[in-house]
Amino acid sequence: MRNTGAESLYVIAVLLVLFSASDGVAALEVKCDSFTPGQIWKDNNGVHINAHGGGILIYEDIYYWFGQHMAEGRAGNKAHVGVHCYSSADLYNWKDEGIVLEVSNDAESDIVKGCVLERPKVIYNEKTNKFVMWFHLELKGKGYSAARSGVAVSNTVTGPYTFVRSFRPNAGCWPVNVREEQKKPVETEKVKEKKFSGGPDATLKDYNVLGRDFEGGQMARDMTLFVDDDGKAYHIYASEENGTMHISLLSEDYLEPAGKYLRVFEGRWMEAPAVCKRNGKYYLIASGCTGWAPNAARSAVADSMWGPWKELGNPCVGQGSDKTFGGQSTYILKVAGKRDAYIVLFDIWRPKNAIDGRYMWLPLQFTGEGIEIKYLQEWDLSCFE
Ligand code: GAL
Repeated sequence: MRNTGAESLYVIAVLLVLFSASDGVAALEVKCDSFTPGQIWKDNNGVHINAHGGGILIYEDIYYWFGQHMAEGRAGNKAHVGVHCYSSADLYNWKDEGIVLEVSNDAESDIVKGCVLERPKVIYNEKTNKFVMWFHLELKGKGYSAARSGVAVSNTVTGPYTFVRSFRPNAGCWPVNVREEQKKPVETEKVKEKKFSGGPDATLKDYNVLGRDFEGGQMARDMTLFVDDDGKAYHIYASEENGTMHISLLSEDYLEPAGKYLRVFEGRWMEAPAVCKRNGKYYLIASGCTGWAPNAARSAVADSMWGPWKELGNPCVGQGSDKTFGGQSTYILKVAGKRDAYIVLFDIWRPKNAIDGRYMWLPLQFTGEGIEIKYLQEWDLSCFE
């Protein structure tokens, strides 16, 4: 159908009214007022948020979301850009704060472009007034064998963050629950030659991986940080070839391990850890070890970060729960100013085109015994009221 002159004038008039509204173009901006797990999530520039394996810091009433910036294609799973940050006052609408830690062009740097830089988390140290970032680092060209922790620091929440160093944590230090046989020399064992794949291996128990890494430091891959009410911070990481997790106390400035750590979930092959605290109890959500492919989530509860930790099983319920509804945990957010409002952040990885990875945020429910997560297609914060 052809437009008549009168119709065209009408369309122009409507557009003029919209643009001349008091807040101009902003009147046309689409604001979000709900979470839509798995869908494209646009930032203030209309671009899908790029902060995978992320975590959230609340600072001066604003939420800051830090995550790994993924690029296009399969190669986009590696770090070509750095750590991306977004800010929000309401958790639905996010402003792009840019790249806060850039990977380096210097071939000698541990964080040279093309390294693997995953699961960055930022915490604020009240004593030093510094923002401290920890992440899982794999050195360029070495697959996932380096299994190191990276640390970066900034005076301002949105950076830029300065890379401090990378290392394997807890070198020369035994965990609080070490067994005497683990302290014996490992030379006579085959552990140094044994190759593990990063996934379940029933022979793990025959090798003293902890002892093997005593001098050089413990392997640290998937990780999170948790700051307790008393200001003590913990680094929780998949260690010992991914077979066993470690919960490691950080120094007062949060820049290094304090030299006290606990082995947990021995031989359970858990990764993607996320921790929260509610009514004095600590809850942990994690996944099994199947790379980018989803598997059934795990959960556990304890009265102290030092354990004992009791496994509670898969917290997800309903259809799709055996594969965590397609996701993998990365963080548990306690919503500011609300009682008992906790959100579990999951990634939905798209390894063939990493930049298209999605987010699945779901409310965490506390049952008498443990925790429960149900899939919701769309929801908002009023579910906590
Ligand atoms: C997953 C891990 C991700 C990433 C991936 C690489 O198991 O949770 O963070 O490392 O493996 O395959």
